[in-house]
Amino acid sequence: MRTYFFLLIVILLSGCDPQANESITSPYQSKIEDLLARMTIEEKAGQLTLYTSGWTVTGPALRDDYMDELRAGRAGNLFNAHTVSYARELQRIAVEETRLGIPLLFGLDVIHGYKTTYPIPLAEACTWDLNIIEKTARLYAKEATSAGVNWNFNPVVDICRDPRWGRIAEASGEDVYLGSLIGAAKVRGIQGDDLSDPETMLACVKHYAAYGASQAGRDYHTVDMSDRTLRDTYLPPYRAAVDAGAATVMASFNELHGVPATGSEYLMKQILRDEWGFNGFVVSDYTGVMEMIKHGIVENEKQAAELAFKAGVEMDMQSGFYSKYLPELIREGKISESALDEYVGKVLELKYRLGLFDDPYKYLDSVRESETLFSREFFDHGLLSAKESIVLLKNEGQLLPLSKNIPSVALIGPLADNKKDLLGTWHVAGIAEKVVTLKAGIENVASNVRINYVRGTGFEGNDRSGFNEAISAARRSDVVIMAIGENYQQSGEAASRSDIGLPGNQSQLLEAIAATGKPVVVVLMAGRPLTIGWMDENIPAILNTWHLGTMAGQAIAETLFGDNNPSGKLTITFPRNVGQIPIYYNMKNTGRPFNEADKYTSKYLDVSNEPLYPFGYGLSYTAFEYADLNLSADRMTKNEQIEVSVTVTNSGDFTGEEVVQLYIRDLVGSVTRPVRELKGYEKIRLNPGESKVVTFTITNEELKFYTFEKKWESEPGFFQVFVGTNSTEVLESRFELL
Ligand code: NOJ
Repeated sequence: MRTYFFLLIVILLSGCDPQANESITSPYQSKIEDLLARMTIEEKAGQLTLYTSGWTVTGPALRDDYMDELRAGRAGNLFNAHTVSYARELQRIAVEETRLGIPLLFGLDVIHGYKTTYPIPLAEACTWDLNIIEKTARLYAKEATSAGVNWNFNPVVDICRDPRWGRIAEASGEDVYLGSLIGAAKVRGIQGDDLSDPETMLACVKHYAAYGASQAGRDYHTVDMSDRTLRDTYLPPYRAAVDAGAATVMASFNELHGVPATGSEYLMKQILRDEWGFNGFVVSDYTGVMEMIKHGIVENEKQAAELAFKAGVEMDMQSGFYSKYLPELIREGKISESALDEYVGKVLELKYRLGLFDDPYKYLDSVRESETLFSREFFDHGLLSAKESIVLLKNEGQLLPLSKNIPSVALIGPLADNKKDLLGTWHVAGIAEKVVTLKAGIENVASNVRINYVRGTGFEGNDRSGFNEAISAARRSDVVIMAIGENYQQSGEAASRSDIGLPGNQSQLLEAIAATGKPVVVVLMAGRPLTIGWMDENIPAILNTWHLGTMAGQAIAETLFGDNNPSGKLTITFPRNVGQIPIYYNMKNTGRPFNEADKYTSKYLDVSNEPLYPFGYGLSYTAFEYADLNLSADRMTKNEQIEVSVTVTNSGDFTGEEVVQLYIRDLVGSVTRPVRELKGYEKIRLNPGESKVVTFTITNEELKFYTFEKKWESEPGFFQVFVGTNSTEVLESRFELL
């Protein structure tokens, strides 16, 4: 039986990415075999069980019943048990008080920072800078591992085209190409090159699969789509993260094709294992196994455990059903012990690879913890990442940057002197006191400018009692900076919204301030694109900053006053209204593409087809001109490549960065293809007057898709090529694939 198990591991390993799996045979084979031989079925089920540590508002507290499970070896892994002092005690119990002394994995959602908090993932994606993104992940891994965490429930790579869904904040946006690159970069950052390095941790790709496509943007809701869309658009980022070596995967809450992901053999076995060669383990999401009862796919707890297990979910988060029912299911012959051994072997393997058997306390050193938390390098990088994440949406009459010599600004809004909300969603351990507020940032950057600060209003309700004070502050100031948007709870998990305008009465406040006639700059902080049509029409300057984390206020102030020239580009479309959703740049053409002169074409009666701001959009204080789009050939075979070059010139007055973007369109396919697909980009920096030739290479790889024949391949024919500053303002050419 055991030999079969190891043969299986060898076969699985050999089908995988060599980087992810350095060796074909597990170096821990005999150790794992030895351990399995000594484990009871209950202890094995315990290794497949994960509980929350029960962190409460007053501090850490493991529930008594979990404590009993832990001591009995029936709870092999915990999450939310960070801080060395707490986690060390739990690890001590596992190692010293359980029969076999198997160390615990400690999981946590380190989504965009541990204590030091970086921009929310949707914001950081707008940097389009994989080095920044990978380094952020490297640094939060460093900080979190110093506090005992060795397993990160990240990266979140859910493609999302519906900003009503609050969890859009946690991932990279709407694009499959960029989302895949970012997912892989985060895995590299989190896991590093060597899992045994105490500053790296296990990554967990989530939420597999297609969680971001929940109907109507409502969290935990049904997902249904064609297999083609699944494979073309939603799966590639998970795959890219798996190919980058991600050790674990989290099953999503949603159903897909009528089966909850947690019980989907199609997702967990056929695609993940058989097609992609994934050989780590899959964990359910929180009570995901239990929720299959409510989904209506099983009748009871035991059936839920059986279905999830058989589907290929190795670890049960929080339901406790594996621990409760696997022994029974094995005794009844419904599940084989060899399958159980295989699953447990994968968990033990990763515990070995982390080095936990050599030293269960290697992540639990309080000296290292205190020396690491809030290191200077975290703040420095947090500032860089925050500055690069900012997207300038509008800048009429070059209102920005502001001069540091203006006598006064009115600083108005609920996010102006706010710490906690700037951390954004999922700041599990983020410390609000460390946040640089916008007000503090302006004081640091423009110390001669008098700040007339008024909060004005909040995030909910219609209390206008602060309006008059805000209006009077605006009247006595030279410029108004309005810091408005969402608080940290208005995006993220269980934070879907059906109206994605400014929450509360912030719009009314903005209108009242605009009516003073003073020049207004909006600093828009949110976890999703908001519908801001009125603002776009009436306010001269809009800086979309998302939630930027610990260094937010400093980064925004440096940008407002010209020490930083914004260069972020949207990775998600801004709709004009909710009715346009889903709206995304790589739509299909339809048989009746929009034609103003023809009523019977695809459009609305009451709103244009165009978004407010398209994918890839973002302005700069300087201006970039594109010229001389040139292709090295106008045809290529599948073995050849074409170089696409373009000259970009900084024709403005500031040094600036530009993300030069390459899109293609496959004009005729065995199935219809999107009107644009991002296939490359380069971020360049140019001084005023400077030009640069940017060159992209198109190979057969960039032209592949999931064809009618269900193959990932390219098809001969004509392709359009577009290069430009965003997905709509482009130069255009074409070539033929032979
Ligand atoms: C539920 C969330 O969906 C998931 O992203 C997270 O990792 C778990 N809770 C654990 O916190």
